[in-house]
Amino acid sequence: MRIYVTQPLPEPSLGELLAGATVQVGESGIGEDELIRRVSEVDAILSTPPVPITTRVLDAAPRVRIVANCAVGTDNIDLPACRARGVVVTNTPGVLTEATADLAFALILAVTRRLREGEALLRSGAWTGWKPLELRGVSLEGKVLGIYGAGRIGSAVARRAAAFGMTVFPVVDTDPPERFEDLLRSADVLSIHAPLTPETRGRFGDAELGRMKRGSFLVNTARGPIVDEAALVRALESGQLRGAGLDVFQNEPKVHSGLVGRPDVVLLPHLGSATEEVRLSMARMACEEIARFFRGDPPVNRVV
Ligand code: DGY
Repeated sequence: MRIYVTQPLPEPSLGELLAGATVQVGESGIGEDELIRRVSEVDAILSTPPVPITTRVLDAAPRVRIVANCAVGTDNIDLPACRARGVVVTNTPGVLTEATADLAFALILAVTRRLREGEALLRSGAWTGWKPLELRGVSLEGKVLGIYGAGRIGSAVARRAAAFGMTVFPVVDTDPPERFEDLLRSADVLSIHAPLTPETRGRFGDAELGRMKRGSFLVNTARGPIVDEAALVRALESGQLRGAGLDVFQNEPKVHSGLVGRPDVVLLPHLGSATEEVRLSMARMACEEIARFFRGDPPVNRVV
């Protein structure tokens, strides 16, 4: 059995769980044409979020029977194309829930309490001591946390918010449209936890950001394209939003230039699941799906 792994993974995963297979490990940043050359003879692809598994890639890999994504989100994979070819797709839900919720909450605290500005002031050497008017942020207690996409991760963020004395306003995709409007109107902090789908792509544009509470905060640890970054910059510039915490971006790894220099924005390089424990669990889950599949056992987390 031949397996192509799109980026290096934490071990023990490949070396232990796919020991009998011929495994080729790719590196970050190779283009689609190079990927196509590498997958032509493989039976399985172990994919990672920055590497798109497109129709062209699948067409070039006629032997592939399973794509095991080392992520819960599967927006990097052309799922209809996999379905049409009978290629199984799996993901890694559950193990990253708490770590991603932790990071979302870290961003919520960072933007509302102005940690980036405080740190910059201190490191600049310009801080002259405690002042009653200095860098006042916003208290979370008594505020409304809107959760767009209250699945596993959104619900874990909601539990943290309750411990901080916040009122939680969750919205799921089956809710009536009025509830989304109420979310925009009522959230002091709006945290995004929905998957990227055709319905959620661009869900937060000029119109929606304009209907948010003036002076509220937006946090996104889900997928960048859910938010129109240019619209977000405009909302921050106009004071409609008071700050934003972003772990994901519309065109990763690029970040809109209007966000980079802003002191009211905290930017992280897609770190939601980035703990040693969680990244190892994700790698092992993806390897196990491939091993199980080729043993003839059903996948545990099958998406397609
Ligand atoms: C996921 O799992 O979808 C994350 O974005 C990567 O941890």
